Amino acid sequence: MKLLIVGNQGQLGRELELRGIAAGFELTGIDLPKLDLTRPDQVKAILEHSGAPLVVNAAAYTAVDKAESEPELAFAVNADGPRHLADQCHRLGLALIHVSTDYVFDGTATRPYLETDPISPIGVYGQSKADGEVAVSSRLSRHLILRTSWLYGLYGANFVKTMLRLGKQRQSLSVVADQQGCPTCAADLAEAILAVASRFSQGSPVVWGTYHYCGQGITTWHQFAETIFELARPLTDLCVTHVEAIATSAYPTAARRPAFSALDCQKIRQNFDIAARPWRESLAQTLKQILAANDR
Ligand SMILES: NC(=O)c1ccc[n+]([C@@H]2O[C@H](COP(=O)([O-])OP(=O)(O)OC[C@H]3O[C@@H](n4cnc5c(N)ncnc54)[C@H](OP(=O)(O)O)[C@@H]3O)[C@@H](O)[C@H]2O)c1
Repeated sequence: MKLLIVGNQGQLGRELELRGIAAGFELTGIDLPKLDLTRPDQVKAILEHSGAPLVVNAAAYTAVDKAESEPELAFAVNADGPRHLADQCHRLGLALIHVSTDYVFDGTATRPYLETDPISPIGVYGQSKADGEVAVSSRLSRHLILRTSWLYGLYGANFVKTMLRLGKQRQSLSVVADQQGCPTCAADLAEAILAVASRFSQGSPVVWGTYHYCGQGITTWHQFAETIFELARPLTDLCVTHVEAIATSAYPTAARRPAFSALDCQKIRQNFDIAARPWRESLAQTLKQILAANDR
């Protein structure tokens, strides 16, 4: 089956492209500058010519703090972009898998968020992604909005790579310990998306709508950092010996972030038989890949 991946140069998009080709999809990947999601004329032309019955949108404006000072661009990419995609998918009879974020929630929950929980973002990035979700769900019945969280992987910049870099440079680091969430490996998320795409390509029934997918288990950025160092230490030289747990208030950032953004992933398990691995297991595997790539 033909498959169109929008945003194929991002950390998720690259995994989708590599794994999608390996899985036998006739895949077209596209990103800036050939496709600018903010340009409806370009979206129209690409979707008309791709011939793919299913589009995956992995493109986004993902700079959470920078979004606070350039909201126009964040909304153009994350809200208008999915709107243009959904309009064209509707017009051409295509289905759309659109990736979204835990940051559509305000973080006040005391149990993992369900797909049906009200969204209430507390920053520009989260609001722009929330608007993108509404743009898709209100225009296109055959859509999957797939929210994920704390994404990391082999490609692009992410928390794991930042910690490895700092862990080689410094003896002591400070990491926030009062934000809880679920680290998600981009390769695992790509496999989950491709499993849905396979099901679609086989003509099996697909229950469209909003879903959550993230690594299994809840942690804090501080515990995440400590685990990165624990797992990486036998594999590489690290200077870091102490990771101080600090409060969010001690590490001011431009954007506020939800204090708790764990996602309940029962629905995707029930409807698609897709279950994420424990986050620590995925992290161990990805660390080996990142360190091997650094050695090359
Ligand atoms: N990263 C996380 O921690 C996280 C957490 C939860 C959810 N998500 C969601 O997961 C998805 C994938 O995230 P990611 O981390 O893989 O993102 P990423 O690495 O930042 O990749 C996003 C891709 O979109 C491209 N892009 C930006 N503006 C565009 C435009 N106007 N038109 C077309 N393409 C454009 C980027 O190109 P440039 O690099 O050239 O700008 C980049 O290749 C996104 O929907 C994101 O919101 C991410």
